[in-house]
Amino acid sequence: MERVVCPVLIGREIELTELEDALLAANRGDGQIVLLAGEAGVGKSRLATEVQRRAVKIGITVLSGGCSEADLALPYLPFLEALGNYLTAVDLDQVRKGLGSLRRELAHLFPQLEPEAESRETGDPTQAKLRLFEAILALLRLAAQQTGLLLILEDLHWSDASTRELLDYLTRRLRGTRIMLLGTYRADELNRKHPLAHHIQAWRRTKAALVIDLQPLPPDGIAGMVRAIFDSDEVTDEFRDFLHRRSEGNPFVLEELLKDAVDRGDIYRTETRWERKNLDDLRLPQTVRDTILLRVEQLSPEQADVLQTASVLGRSFSYPLLLAVSAKDDRSVQAALHASVQQQLIEEEPHDNGRYRFRHALTREAIYEDMIAPQREELHGLAADALTRQEGTPPIDLAFHLLAANRWQDAVPIGIRAADQAEANQAYHEAADLYDRLLEHVGDNLTRARLLCKAGRAHLRAGDPGRAQRFLDQGIPMLEAAGEEIEAAEYRILLGRSNWEKAQPAIARAHYEQARAVLERAGPSDALATAYIRLSGLHMFNYEFDECLAMANRAAEVAEAAGAESARIWAGVFIGGALVSLGQV
Ligand SMILES: Nc1ncnc2c1ncn2[C@@H]1O[C@H](COP(=O)(O)OP(=O)(O)O)[C@@H](O)[C@H]1O
Ligand SMILES: [Mg+2]
Repeated sequence: MERVVCPVLIGREIELTELEDALLAANRGDGQIVLLAGEAGVGKSRLATEVQRRAVKIGITVLSGGCSEADLALPYLPFLEALGNYLTAVDLDQVRKGLGSLRRELAHLFPQLEPEAESRETGDPTQAKLRLFEAILALLRLAAQQTGLLLILEDLHWSDASTRELLDYLTRRLRGTRIMLLGTYRADELNRKHPLAHHIQAWRRTKAALVIDLQPLPPDGIAGMVRAIFDSDEVTDEFRDFLHRRSEGNPFVLEELLKDAVDRGDIYRTETRWERKNLDDLRLPQTVRDTILLRVEQLSPEQADVLQTASVLGRSFSYPLLLAVSAKDDRSVQAALHASVQQQLIEEEPHDNGRYRFRHALTREAIYEDMIAPQREELHGLAADALTRQEGTPPIDLAFHLLAANRWQDAVPIGIRAADQAEANQAYHEAADLYDRLLEHVGDNLTRARLLCKAGRAHLRAGDPGRAQRFLDQGIPMLEAAGEEIEAAEYRILLGRSNWEKAQPAIARAHYEQARAVLERAGPSDALATAYIRLSGLHMFNYEFDECLAMANRAAEVAEAAGAESARIWAGVFIGGALVSLGQV
């Protein structure tokens, strides 16, 4: 017997009713977010698959995506996956038309929608993010328009900050749409400090999302699974209770235990039916990790190698990449995959030829964590090399492997590119964290200074002026010391802004003044215009309208000379405001 996996869904009647009600409500135009919470292996994905099956049956469009266990991944990854699949399956011209001008907001995330897009005006980061969220919602609504939409997002305990923010936005925006968002997360991974925990608490309290807690299966459920797996009616109460105790009602653990028992011959098939040894003679492994590793031991060393290599690539991995990283020939890799499927360790990715995945995240974790650190590092290095040769690899994936390989020299420039990209996608938290993380691996002062300043800017954009200030305070003098005075002055405007946001206008003004003086020497520029606009704003705030007007006029002049369009418009707003306040309009 190859696989010991329950062929049907056991129990979960109450949960299914709730889920189906939510699905039908969404289909009628009353969409919402539903979350399935529970420990690893309890059956969240299995239940989500059942909801998906029912949705497909009544003609509802289903899109799905998942979060990555890697500690660095693209911001908005689950949405990117789900919507990316959608966009490959539809007429892009229709989508462009449906989105109207909002499609420009999506140009970075989905270049296929707006291939010609130039980089956008930055403007107010909070506004930019809201427009992005609106555009994503618009895209989801398009997908839902004709048929209703079930959007499944798996493993949200691994979600990035941007995904969490977008989810929070959607909790308020799905009512009145035909969208049901079904998310899953491991409740046991969310301690009180987990950033998702705080959102979920709030959503529960305000009923912004329906949270369904999946409990382990009761003894009868365990018996039901055993009956279904072995296609037999005979499960004694004693065996049922024994397995329930050993699996703690966790379906994944049960299947793994049974697989081991079958492999070891403790459960065996006679001519007519399944038999088992006495309970006292069953030698079940102590932990689920042991059940998995025991089966890895059944593989040949070469096959185990391939599997370990795969575990570095993630829960889901492509065959060509595995082939490239493992540096073995086609036949050996195929054989390893085949044996691993038989050992119930991996499976083919449904609906995706050429991709495989570990049977469960726990399977990958067990194999990955069983390696010693130098072995993992080496494999991450090989993965990075293979990905470098592959076209279209996102810098963030490369950065992840390079960092895990401790190859700082290569990791820093790629990591900076990845963080820049995250910032361009309004994923300011991720960008800030990544700049920050790269810092410890940078020796040369100029690069350090730049990283500190970039991190500061990202923190400011993420709405954290306190941290922005700390980073900029450190980075700016270093930039100046390295002779990069203009660049330093540009960041100094942001430092002033951070101080202003922290209600320290006097310090803010000093920074703006200092930046202005440096920038004046270099002639008209966007940054110089911005410095004047900031000063003008401070005067406005103090009811010093003459000074406000003077600074705004100078800003307009500089902006005009520098061809800085948005600064020019902005200066105009301040001129107008000052004139009105002075009674001159
Ligand atoms: N209610 C159930 N009935 C039958 N099998 C189940 C049930 N719940 C989970 N399983 C099986 O247990 C294993 C782990 O379930 P999964 O949904 O992947 O867990 P989770 O997503 O909660 O980590 C899968 O092989 C799945 O088919
Ligand atoms: Mg799952």
